[in-house]
Amino acid sequence: MLKEKLEKLKEKAINELTQVKDSNSFSLLEIHILGRKGELAELVKQLPTVPVKERPEVGALSNEIKRELLKCFEEKKKDFNVSNTTVSDIDITLPGIRHAKGSLHPVTWAIEELERIFTRLGFVRVRYNEVEWDYYAFEALNMPKDHPARDEWETFFLTDHEVGPLGKIVLTPHTSSGQVREMEKYSKTGEPIRMMNISKCYRRQIDISHTPMFHQFEGLVVDKDVTMTQLLGTLDYFAKEFFGSERKVRLRPYHFRFTEPSFEVDITCALCLGKGCSYCKDGWTELGGAGMVHTNVLKAGGYDAKHYSGFAFGFGVERCYLMKNNLNIGDLRQLYSNDIRFLKQF
Ligand code: FA5
Repeated sequence: MLKEKLEKLKEKAINELTQVKDSNSFSLLEIHILGRKGELAELVKQLPTVPVKERPEVGALSNEIKRELLKCFEEKKKDFNVSNTTVSDIDITLPGIRHAKGSLHPVTWAIEELERIFTRLGFVRVRYNEVEWDYYAFEALNMPKDHPARDEWETFFLTDHEVGPLGKIVLTPHTSSGQVREMEKYSKTGEPIRMMNISKCYRRQIDISHTPMFHQFEGLVVDKDVTMTQLLGTLDYFAKEFFGSERKVRLRPYHFRFTEPSFEVDITCALCLGKGCSYCKDGWTELGGAGMVHTNVLKAGGYDAKHYSGFAFGFGVERCYLMKNNLNIGDLRQLYSNDIRFLKQF
C-alpha cells in the first residue's frame, strides 16, 4: 500500500515538475514535495505501519525515490538559475537589515525620571490600589460622606451602595488615597514616612488637559517637626531637576480638605513660555496640589498630631511631562491615542 503511494508520488512530482514555468512555482513545488513537512516526508513517516517483513524493501524504495526526485529537482533548478547559496557567497560587509526596536511609553519614562529624582531626596517608591474604598479615597482624608468637596474628584463608582464599613468601592481618583494606607503601616511604631506613590488614577473627565485614566505622583512626609519650608525646598528641587532652572514655579492659595494650609502649584507653560496659549490660557499651567497634612488625616493614620506633622503633594505625571521643555505636545489626550506615528517621536 505504502509502496504504491510512493510510486504515485514520484510520478506526480515528476509530472508537475515538467509543467513548472518559473522559479517561484519551482520553489513552492520543491517545498511541497521534498520539504520537511512535504508529501514525501509524510509518507516516510508511515513506514512503521508497514509489516516488518516488507519494511526493508519499502524503506529502500523510499530512499531511492527521494534520491531520484532530488536529482530531478536539481536538474530543473538549472532552468531558473536558482542558486545554492553557500556561506562563501554571502557578503558580510553589506549593511544588515535593522529590526524595528520597541521603546518605553513616554509616560513610563517620566515615571522613571520622577522616581530617580525623589529617590535622591530619600523618598521610597510605593504603588497603591487602582480600586479603592471610599474610606481611603475620601473619608480618611477629612471628606465626610456627602461633603461637596468630593465633587471635584468626578469619581467612577464601582458600587452604588456601601459594601462594608469602608463604604463604596471606587476607581482611585487620586494618589492621596495612599496617604492613610501608608500611615497605618508605620504609625504604630511611630516610624517617619517619606512616601512616593506613583499610580494610575481615574476620573470622569476628558478634554485637552484631562484624560479619564492618568497618573499622579504623591509625596508624603510625616515626622516630628516637619515644616512648610521643607515642602517648598522639595518642590523647588523637583521643578529644577525635572523642568530646568529657567522655568518658574508659583504657589496659589487653595483649599484641600486634607491639607492645611493648602495651595496649588503652577509652572510657566512650556508651549508659550508664559505668554498664554490655547493649552494654558494665561501662561501658567497647574501641576498639582500641596500642603501641610491636616491634623484629622494624621489622626486617621494613627499619628499623634501633637508630636507629628507632615507635608503632602500630588501632581499629574502627564501634565508634568507635557510641560517639559521642547516637547510641544499641545493635547494631553495624544499620549493615549495609541498612534505609533506620534509615539515614535519620543
Ligand atoms: C488632587 O488630586 C489632590 N489629591 C492633590 C494633593 C495631594 C493636594 C496632596 C494636597 C496634598 P487635583 O484634583 O488638583 O488634586 O489633581 C492634581 C493634579 O492631577 C492636577 O493638577 C493635574 O495635574 C492632575 N490631574 C487631575 N485630573 C486629571 C485628569 N483627568 N487628567 C490628567 N491629569 C489630571
